[in-house]
Order: sequence, then C-alpha cells, then structure tokens
Amino acid sequence: MNIITHKDLKVNNIKRIFEISDNITSGKIRKLKNDPTIALFFAEASTRTRVSFEVAAAKLGCKSIYIDAHTSQTSRGEELADTAKILSLYCDFIAVRINEHDKLEAMANAASIPIINALTHLEHPTQALADCYTIKTIKKSLKGLKISLIGDIAQNTFNSLMVTAAKLGADISLIGPKSIQPNNIYVNEARKYSNVYISSDIKKGVENSDIIYTDTFVSMGDEKEAKKRRALFAPYQLNSKVLSYAKKSCNVMHPLPAHRGEEVTAKVIDGDRSIIWQQAKNKQIIEMAIIDYLSQNK
Ligand code: CP
Ligand code: NVA
Repeated sequence: MNIITHKDLKVNNIKRIFEISDNITSGKIRKLKNDPTIALFFAEASTRTRVSFEVAAAKLGCKSIYIDAHTSQTSRGEELADTAKILSLYCDFIAVRINEHDKLEAMANAASIPIINALTHLEHPTQALADCYTIKTIKKSLKGLKISLIGDIAQNTFNSLMVTAAKLGADISLIGPKSIQPNNIYVNEARKYSNVYISSDIKKGVENSDIIYTDTFVSMGDEKEAKKRRALFAPYQLNSKVLSYAKKSCNVMHPLPAHRGEEVTAKVIDGDRSIIWQQAKNKQIIEMAIIDYLSQNK
C-alpha cells in the first residue's frame, strides 16, 4: 500500500491510523520487527517533515536514511524510477518529497515497497492526517465542524486537507481572491462527503468557523511569482480582525513554515487560539502511526 494521494486514504484507513496514533500518544508503542529501514528521498527543503520522520522511525526501531536528491545520482541524470527500484532493494519504505507529482507517481510505479508522499505541489497527505488528528484531539470529532481555509486556496496542504476533513464529516470553506480557483478535482471529491463553500468575502467565508487554517502565499516552486502572489493574497491575511468573525472557540492552524506579517500575524500565530505547535508535534505521532500501519499493510 502507498500513501500518495487522497485516494489512498479511505475513511477506514484514516480511522485505523488515528487509533494507532491514540495508542502511541498513550505510550503504547509497537516496535517493528526485522530491523526495517525507511529511505527519506527529498528533492525540496524541509524542517518538520524530515526531522519528524527520522524521529518517528527511530522510536519504532526503524532505521532512517536521508537522501538529498541534489547530492544523489538523480542530480546527474539517473532516472527516478531506477532510484526507486534500487531503494526497494535495500529499504522497506520510502518517503518522497518532490514538487512534481507525476515524478512521485513514476517512483511509486517502479518501487516494490510502500511509498509515502512527503509533499508534492499537489498534495501533502501526511500533513492532512496530522491536521485532522489534531482537530479530532481538540474538538473530539470533525463531524459538523466548519473548517475555513484562507489565502492560496489552490495549493497542496488545502487540497489534501479539504478531502481528508470532508471524509471525516467537516464542512469546508475556501476563502481567497476571485482570480484564484481551487483545484476542482479536490473540491468535487470533498463534496462527495460534505459541503464545500467557495468565497472571496472574508467575513462571510469565515463566519461561524471552528477552525481557520492558513498557509504560505508562496509555496515551494512558486518563487518566481513571489512578488505577484504576496500582493494578490495580502488582503487574505489571517489577523485578529479575521479571527473575530469566527466562533469564540475557533482555533488557528498553519502547517509551517510561517511568514509572520504575510499570511498570518505574529499576534494570531502566537496567540491563545493557535494550536500550531500541537499540530506540528502531531506530525511525528501520525508518521509513527503511518509507518506502523504500512508495516502491517504492505
Ligand atoms: N509542514 C511541513 O511540511 O513542514 P516542512 O516543510 O518543514 O517539512
Ligand atoms: N504549501 C506549502 C506547504 C509547506 C509545508 C509549500 O508547498 O511550500
């Protein structure tokens, strides 16, 4: 089994991964047998995902090997498919961070061991699992919640989160400039499970929210358009005024890295409604649960 897109995460898989996460949180950690190894093949920058996967693996008795794509033979032209075949000979799992989603799919087609998407330009499924697990832990359930995604509504973390959260029963509100349309593949998929509203009106969009979630205005790979994007999304900054339109119990989330003063103010991200540090911590718990789950469902 792979975890590459939302399609790999059926409601049952998500629930099982959350059960394992609950066990891990309460100290019940199942060490993996036969000294497994996870390869972390990263072609893009990372702080949290890399470190949390390394720590997650270590805590399960699984070795991890970080491979910087820029210093591996892929940088000299070796096919990614061949790299995936080779890693399959030595390792038991591969987590890949690469912007081009089709390149990740090519690796998955060539690999004979489970592949985990550690972020592409289209999806960030392990982040969505950590996000939904965090929401579940704090709000007890996602059923009936309103989760507002504000800013760049056409990027990876929102794509994965809207579908995963909708599968768990949350309604989604996408709030961004009129000229930016969300990716219909994800909107239509999320609508199979729940309501998805799209609006450029911040007050209306955010009203009654249980969670407001934002992310960078300039995702990895979008750097050439940085100036244009910062100007376009600036009116959609998550600040105290925007938060005041939501429920009093509304919490704030961000996958990080944050750009204080751009997509979110320091006051909001460091304020008492912010749950971003629990969210970041839960990446490691969820990644332990994912590795454990995949070890039993190869
Ligand atoms: N949230 C997240 O994926 O962070 P990194 O880019 O630091 O891994
Ligand atoms: N949307 C961001 C997420 C970083 C974790 C990016 O792709 O850069």
